[in-house]
Amino acid sequence: MQFSTKRGAPEMRATPCIAVGVYAGRKPGAAASALDRAAQGAVGEVLRRGDLEGKLGSTRILYRVPGVAAERVLLVGLGEEADLREREYREAARAAIKAAQETGAGRLTLCFGEIKAGRRDAAWKARQVALVAAECAYRFDSMKSKKSDPRPLAHVELLTAARDASAAARGLRQGEAIGAGVSLAKDLGNLPGNVCTPTFLAEQARKIAKEWKLGFELLGRKDMEKLGMGSLLSVAQGSRQPPKLIVLNYAGGRKKAKPVVLVGKGITFDTGGISLKPSPEMDEMKFDMCGAASVLGALRACAEMKLKLNVVGIIPTTENMPGGAATKPGDVVTSMSGQTIEVLNTDAEGRLILCDALTYAERFEPEAVVDIATLTGACVIALGHVASGLYSNKEALARELLAAGDEAYDRAWHMPLWDDYQEQLKSNFADMANIGGRPAGSVTAACFLSRFAKKFDWAHLDIAGTAWKSGKEKGSTGRPVALLASFLMKRAGKGQ
Ligand code: BES
Ligand code: MN
Ligand code: ZN
Repeated sequence: MQFSTKRGAPEMRATPCIAVGVYAGRKPGAAASALDRAAQGAVGEVLRRGDLEGKLGSTRILYRVPGVAAERVLLVGLGEEADLREREYREAARAAIKAAQETGAGRLTLCFGEIKAGRRDAAWKARQVALVAAECAYRFDSMKSKKSDPRPLAHVELLTAARDASAAARGLRQGEAIGAGVSLAKDLGNLPGNVCTPTFLAEQARKIAKEWKLGFELLGRKDMEKLGMGSLLSVAQGSRQPPKLIVLNYAGGRKKAKPVVLVGKGITFDTGGISLKPSPEMDEMKFDMCGAASVLGALRACAEMKLKLNVVGIIPTTENMPGGAATKPGDVVTSMSGQTIEVLNTDAEGRLILCDALTYAERFEPEAVVDIATLTGACVIALGHVASGLYSNKEALARELLAAGDEAYDRAWHMPLWDDYQEQLKSNFADMANIGGRPAGSVTAACFLSRFAKKFDWAHLDIAGTAWKSGKEKGSTGRPVALLASFLMKRAGKGQ
């Protein structure tokens, strides 16, 4: 999909489809009013007859409106004017794009500059339009023999006021880059476990690195043995697929500037291992590499936006399988940090691969480390599918990430990392156990990781509830690529 900005009066714009907003109570917005004047009341008449009340997300298409250059006028309900915030703005944009997709109009002109989104500016609105459009255009059919119909909507243009034109154009470019990162993360997440193996993930990373000129390094089992990554290797032990540690390097900043390190959980399938998971919905454990996918998506977005900062991506990736050689409950393993771990439950494997990746991150002398992981079912119970769980050993970093999530409408919620919870990880046989019992399962998982993140500012995003959707709409969401991109943009000094 292509994006552009245009200036001028809505009624003069010769375009296949022009979308204008209508507030609740049949109240036309400024652009709708302009069309109505040009059409000598034809738009107002539709509203008066009750064909569009202005409910948020409702739409109505009018053809051959006199005095209007566009072939179609798309009326879009905005809801109560006073209630218009970020969510409502996105809903309205989504409704407009979806309605246009159902028509033969290849191009949609949005007159959405006048619509409020809380206090967000023109760049934010443009960014969101591009992101929502990418979401609406997304299809995953690479595994189907019949491909879905190509959607006719090829171009979205924003009609903007002169003073907003450059901010809107910048926002569209950013939204396009972030949207491509989100789609990349979705594609990888949606691929089945028999295709998206650790080796496949490494090859995809290699391709992305080549296309976007990122540094690339791949560690195999032998390298991990040399480094003493006994924890990561213990998870891979039951699998026929060789584990990998992928390292990507985006060098957009000054040579000496310390990097932000992103670490993504890359379990390409999580059976639970010997602590086998129950069968229902186990297929969804192909999504257990969505943290890894989000790191790749965020790096791609960074590279396309040419952000001026250094970012390292680290992806520990393996399957978690049962088998004759698999780790058994009660086994004790030694992590790269030297700390020993009693594996009481082989299904708590994410933390076991992340802890060695975190220790590995030390060598980059990071400015900050953020890990992203579909880590615990307990986080889904705590926060549902709305917010990702955020933990950090540094208050300022937590605040930055929370703000980035709000900005991107890819939100996280701050969870406690108090020492009181650490006690639950006590083991009679090793330095720590890999599980902390049922209470506060997401917190104790974060506590476990914090023991390997003592040497830097660190944050952890538990995306177990947000990385994919179940049920009829089953599929990867691409979260939290948008949050990460927003965080990195701010860090790079590009602001909003
Ligand atoms: N990948 C899962 C977490 C998960 C489960 C995410 C369900 C989304 C939905 C993780 O590896 C896991 O199995 N965690 C266990 C930890 C427990 C054994 C302490 C869990 O949450 O049940
Ligand atoms: Mn597991
Ligand atoms: Zn897992």
